Amino acid sequence: RATGTGHTRAKAILVGEHAVVYGEPAIALPLASLPMRAVARREEGPLTLESVLYSGALSDAPEQLAAPVAAVEATLDHLGLPHRDVVLSTESTIPAARGLGSSAATAGALALALADLAGRTLTAQEHFDLVQVGERVAHGNPSGLDARTTASTEPVWFQAGEIRPLDLALRAHLVVADTGVHGRTRVAVADVRSFRDRHPARGTELIAELGAITRDVVDDLALDRPAELGARMTRAHGALAELGVSSPELDRLVGAALAAGALGAKLTGGGQGGCMLALAADAASAGTIAAALRRAGAARTWLHRTDARRPA
Ligand code: PMV
Repeated sequence: RATGTGHTRAKAILVGEHAVVYGEPAIALPLASLPMRAVARREEGPLTLESVLYSGALSDAPEQLAAPVAAVEATLDHLGLPHRDVVLSTESTIPAARGLGSSAATAGALALALADLAGRTLTAQEHFDLVQVGERVAHGNPSGLDARTTASTEPVWFQAGEIRPLDLALRAHLVVADTGVHGRTRVAVADVRSFRDRHPARGTELIAELGAITRDVVDDLALDRPAELGARMTRAHGALAELGVSSPELDRLVGAALAAGALGAKLTGGGQGGCMLALAADAASAGTIAAALRRAGAARTWLHRTDARRPA
């Protein structure tokens, strides 16, 4: 084969971020509107990457690409391919470092493209393991949520490294908005730990509350209860803010979404920057909320239908 292609997508954590670090469950949604496509083609010379962030020899790629680079190297070893004579390219509009899983999506798409080039397919477990090689380089001790979710085309329940598909009857619209500020997952995770050390009782209570909210959200999704889901999202934002992982920008966008008629709103992902989610009952309301979010300072917004289904 002369070329291989791989497809993944961004993900949004609907609920459960941070609590998932303490063994509670989380729910994540693949975002079909933010796809990642990678191509691998044979061309004599050093292993090369062409992307919006960097173009050149993979061995000289900047630190920001450490996770995908590590995943590519692991994939080549896994497939028994030499670390040369391949040009890799990626195409995507997923913003980097905004809690939408861009590094796992990049690593996953590149691994799939290389396997395709070799005339192979990857099992879900092989894909997960190769992406986790990269995530470990980037985050130290990642929960695995990103690696699992960017490989999935369906919403997933995630707990203790394992996923299961969710029954999703909910017909609503999510507005994803980017604060324009880099998320700080690593710092935010450390801040939650320090909150728990300083206020053990309240810290434990807040983590447990987030776990309970996530369990109730399963029923909201299965029973199509958008109003209840929205209220739980807003409660989750309050708990996350008290744990110290919101930011003035995130709080402003959450407030603007609620004032514009959102059923609920919260930060998503690591926090202290990055993106937030607002739940809207219908497309018209989602449009109104997206416009309000941009007026309140959002750098970008995306619309996602919760019942959207696209082929992998
Ligand atoms: O910011 P992201 O998309 O990498 O999400 C981080 C999610 C956390 O729960 C905060 C950390 C983790 O390892 O799950």
